[in-house]
Amino acid sequence: MPRDFLKTSDWSGQQLGELIDSAVRFKTGEETSRALAGRSVALVFFNPSLRTRASMQVGIYELGGNAVVLEPGGTSWTLEHRDGVVMDADKTEHVAEFVRVLGRYCVAIGVRTFAALKDWEAERLDPILNAFAKYSEVPIINLESAMHHPCQAMADMMTIREQLGAGRKKVLLTWAWHPKPLPMAVPNSFALAAAQMGHELVIAHPKGYELDEELMNEIQQRAAAAGGGVTISNDIEKAFDGVQVVYAKSWGSKNFYGASEKDIAERARYRDEWIVDEQKMARTNDAIFMHCLPVRRNVIVTDAVIDSTSSVVIDEAENRLHVQKSILNKLLAD
Ligand code: CP
Repeated sequence: MPRDFLKTSDWSGQQLGELIDSAVRFKTGEETSRALAGRSVALVFFNPSLRTRASMQVGIYELGGNAVVLEPGGTSWTLEHRDGVVMDADKTEHVAEFVRVLGRYCVAIGVRTFAALKDWEAERLDPILNAFAKYSEVPIINLESAMHHPCQAMADMMTIREQLGAGRKKVLLTWAWHPKPLPMAVPNSFALAAAQMGHELVIAHPKGYELDEELMNEIQQRAAAAGGGVTISNDIEKAFDGVQVVYAKSWGSKNFYGASEKDIAERARYRDEWIVDEQKMARTNDAIFMHCLPVRRNVIVTDAVIDSTSSVVIDEAENRLHVQKSILNKLLAD
């Protein structure tokens, strides 16, 4: 079993399934582990959060532990992650000391560090998350990095199983218009986890909004190995045909990292078409609607869809709590 929880593909499909089994037991009350009794977990947030922060704090408390929440540059020092740099600019502390000091107080460290959307070739390698993992002597949990949001993906897989039962489903991951480019971590992790679970995945996006090529190769291979498949569509209408799950998310084009104004101009033409509405949902096989939240109403999804009985976004958010307790318990129970 890996020491860290950085991305779902570090864990086997069977291990992911067992994490969901355990999360279900936490949700029903059958599992009452106090694996963190008398122990602390650090939660490091470079970026804002509602669900991740609240569900991690509550989950750690329910496992008997204590959460230490830190915001580099706010409630803790500004952090440098690059090796070999002369720290004579704005960064006060290096990750090398930061994580090893925290490791003397805490049994694990969770970290949220979004893509800055400035340098694709650098950010696609998840440099800050990997610096945490490199220097840490305790498990690192990815709370959303430049490329992955595995806790969200696990809650998503749990929600699909909870709503539709176990087994292969026809699942649509669709890009949606948003006024500004957003990171790719959520679609990356959703697609990867859905492939590992053996779902039949359709990924819909306009041309130019492809996910990372190396990751897509891995997603294709994982899907094939698990008996599922992956189809790419540039047709927002046909992509909805017959699917059982609609998962909406906007993301930025890797072609425009460092030039957000060009991405904003490029995507303007998709505003009216690339939205989840009742007409598109009517093409599905009575699909559930999912989104990781936060979501911009009547931009990504219409009020009519998100307020309908098909929408499971609040259950999905709740499942963050249960699945993260399962992950913490698996990583830290003696
Ligand atoms: N879905 C999610 O990660 O939500 P937050 O950004 O509010 O944590």
